[in-house]
Amino acid sequence: MALVIDGKQAAASVVAAVTEAAGKLEAEVGVKPGLAVVIVGNDPASHAYVNSKSKMAKQCGFNSIQHSLPEETTQEELEKLVAELNADPAIHGILVQLPLPKHLNAEPVILSISPEKDVDGLHVVNAGKIATGDLSTGLISCTPAGAMLLVKQIHGDDLSGLNAVVIGRSNLFGKPMGLLLLAANATVTMAHSRTKDLAAVCRNADILVAAVGRAQMVKSDWVKPGATVIDVGINRVDAPDKGEGKTRLVGDVAYAEAAEVAGAITPVPGGVGPMTIAMLMANTVIAAHRAAG
Ligand code: GUN
Repeated sequence: MALVIDGKQAAASVVAAVTEAAGKLEAEVGVKPGLAVVIVGNDPASHAYVNSKSKMAKQCGFNSIQHSLPEETTQEELEKLVAELNADPAIHGILVQLPLPKHLNAEPVILSISPEKDVDGLHVVNAGKIATGDLSTGLISCTPAGAMLLVKQIHGDDLSGLNAVVIGRSNLFGKPMGLLLLAANATVTMAHSRTKDLAAVCRNADILVAAVGRAQMVKSDWVKPGATVIDVGINRVDAPDKGEGKTRLVGDVAYAEAAEVAGAITPVPGGVGPMTIAMLMANTVIAAHRAAG
């Protein structure tokens, strides 16, 4: 049976370190880290995520501001708010929750965030720094940074000689994850929906990272015996065993069977999920620290 990687515990230690760093920054330099979270529209799942981000920011001792904008917000209104937050010295981190309602275009909004305040690590300047191997002067996208921390718990900082396969190539996760694994010397394959014989590609992975958004797609015979499996999927599926109309969260990996083969595996929930918020807090305190000089 695989070692179960405890993301809640890893996240708690990141949050404890962030809280301490925030307290120190305020006591010594008089700067309280400020995080502004912006959400547009009424999607309940997005509101739940955003609320937990704002709540955690408060818990870390930050100045936590939430802007909930109505569904009919225009592109100009949203970009104007971002411009105001860019200019506000009390705000060190800006996060615009994605996806945006269909009539809004996310790309110019993300590009309008000051790279120094882009705690999501999505601005082309921050994405470009990771791509060129600069992991120290920008801000790294939260979910890949968190997933990487879990990988390093198992394998250490140097992944030389290990094959890593990332399934999924999004800007939010797959691409930066592949680049972080590469920066740690892994031999990286970025697989996606057009990859031929995905199962065989995955079976070659010492580190298998699944971020496809398809419930339990990765089966046990995709997993190399002893591999580390990082499941980034969060899918809600029907759970008739829990009662009529009930649902449960599952990952992109068929957990029970994959855990029979893997060496280490992240559960869903309780794996990568808690790390995303923890790394957002870490990015905010880093941004505040840099702003304080
Ligand atoms: N929606 C789902 N995950 C994320 C994230 O990490 N950042 C933002 N901004 N939106 C998201």
